[in-house]
Amino acid sequence: MIISSTTDYRAAAQKRLPPFLFHYIDGGAYAEKTLAHNVSDLSEVALRQRVLKDMSQLDTSIELFGEKLSMPVALAPVGLTGMFARRGEVQAAMAADKKGIPFTMSSVSVCAIEEVAPRIQRPMWFQLYVLKDRGFLKNALERAQAAGVTTLVFTVDMPVPGARYRDAHSGMSGPNAAMRRYLQSMTHPHWAMDVGLMGRPHTLGNISTYMGKNVSLEDYMGYLGANFDPSISWRDLEWIRDFWKGPMVIKGILDPEDAKDAVRFGADGIIVSNHGGRQLDGVLSSARALPAIADAVKGQIKILADSGIRNGLDIVRMLALGADCTMIGRAFIYALAAQGGAGVSHLLDLLEKEMRVAMTLTSVKSVSEITGNLLVQSR
Ligand SMILES: Cc1cc2nc3c(=O)[nH]c(=O)nc-3n(C[C@H](O)[C@H](O)[C@H](O)COP(=O)(O)O)c2cc1C
Repeated sequence: MIISSTTDYRAAAQKRLPPFLFHYIDGGAYAEKTLAHNVSDLSEVALRQRVLKDMSQLDTSIELFGEKLSMPVALAPVGLTGMFARRGEVQAAMAADKKGIPFTMSSVSVCAIEEVAPRIQRPMWFQLYVLKDRGFLKNALERAQAAGVTTLVFTVDMPVPGARYRDAHSGMSGPNAAMRRYLQSMTHPHWAMDVGLMGRPHTLGNISTYMGKNVSLEDYMGYLGANFDPSISWRDLEWIRDFWKGPMVIKGILDPEDAKDAVRFGADGIIVSNHGGRQLDGVLSSARALPAIADAVKGQIKILADSGIRNGLDIVRMLALGADCTMIGRAFIYALAAQGGAGVSHLLDLLEKEMRVAMTLTSVKSVSEITGNLLVQSR
């Protein structure tokens, strides 16, 4: 199979993964409108083509939170990454490290912080949800700090989990889920051997370490369902702001007023995101939400954006809409599922190449030159 894009990696991942995992990564909330709009709105963003400006020297690197990134991309936190490839968090983190960009570990990862951090040179980023179990939060923060994590990503768009219909049908949840997952594994032998057998233990590593007992995939939905905290407000984040000495980034901002609150709160950055269309269907795509947010807070706080990025051109589009940096979720998971860490490395190289093409044909030599000036009304 020839692989030259995220679309190809998606197809390869679908072949390799048991359906419960493919649909978990591929699906969104309700009718999946926002999921679709994330991709289509971004693809509609037209850029001004400019030519004959000697584009032989391009620089895709940026500085962010005191770190140098080889390109304006970080791997987004994705729960259960270790179910898509053997010890998937380690493989993805090593690929990001090789490329010179950050890997963000999800709080609900398979591997624990302590398994991944020693395997990479760069400091890891770590994502937290506000769970009712505040003991876990404190424990995770202390362990992240001890492991050299620099940037803390605080996800605030999941006070309750979104309704994802595909999960019930696929066997991720719903009746006889464990039996259905077992049967699906039997018909996907490559995955069953690589991850099902050799990739054990399948636990939520960070939570298991805290509880001192295995929290299995079987417990995953139940644990999360019981532990998301709909009472959360900015005030709950204050002790974390005081505790955490490094940069703190608020993930899941979609409204300029919330972005201004994040500035008032003292966050170092925000991530404009609708969780990849997995939470409230019908909310704005990130591409449509971003310009107003950038108008409101650009320059006061770093703006990252995700949801819908599938290629290097999309990265340039997000930056032109107002982001300082981007994150990718599904794109790297498809690559990881299809070809492990080598797939993620290849995908990141593809993104960089495509970014360079977009920069060449819009005549920008550095990332700081990618601004709203590149945008043009197409229809
Ligand atoms: C399967 C899956 C699991 C995710 N798990 C988390 C998570 O644990 N924490 C989090 O903050 N965001 C999570 N996200 C959201 C991603 O961090 C990111 O916002 C989203 O994937 C970006 O959209 P994209 O997939 O279109 O790139 C998850 C997304 C997917 C697809």
